[in-house]
Amino acid sequence: MSATQADPDIAYAICSFNDIPSQKARSFHLLRVDEDGATKPFHIVVVRWGRQVFGYVNRCPHDGVNLDWEPNQFFDPNGIRLMCGKHGALFELGTGACLEGPCKGRALMPVALQVLDNDICVTGVTLAEEEDEPRLCDSDENET
Ligand code: FES
Repeated sequence: MSATQADPDIAYAICSFNDIPSQKARSFHLLRVDEDGATKPFHIVVVRWGRQVFGYVNRCPHDGVNLDWEPNQFFDPNGIRLMCGKHGALFELGTGACLEGPCKGRALMPVALQVLDNDICVTGVTLAEEEDEPRLCDSDENET
């Protein structure tokens, strides 16, 4: 494994579980380090639904824009699907699949999340510690 390859065992805390109320979503502007060592914006949306969390890259598969036309406004009027603010595509919460709209049949890009020590953590990527300042999750040791 190269030094810049994502370590699947590393988890980055982006917020506390309780920072996102159930049935709400929040955007995070992170920076990821790609395999070539380049740092790139990594804008994601995290949805909390009860005890579950779902993460997706905040990029509509239709036109490549952020889904939220106003900051952190991700839901359709019924509050049960993610909606792109530009042309109204609707996405299933649990899968990111586009169910209606101009990108029907395509899907949001998933982001792997874990809840560790009551923190929502991003896994499967290497993050640079800037912008929303992710920190490493500590899954088997207690921080004091
Ligand atoms: S850009 Fe999202 S539906 Fe068109």
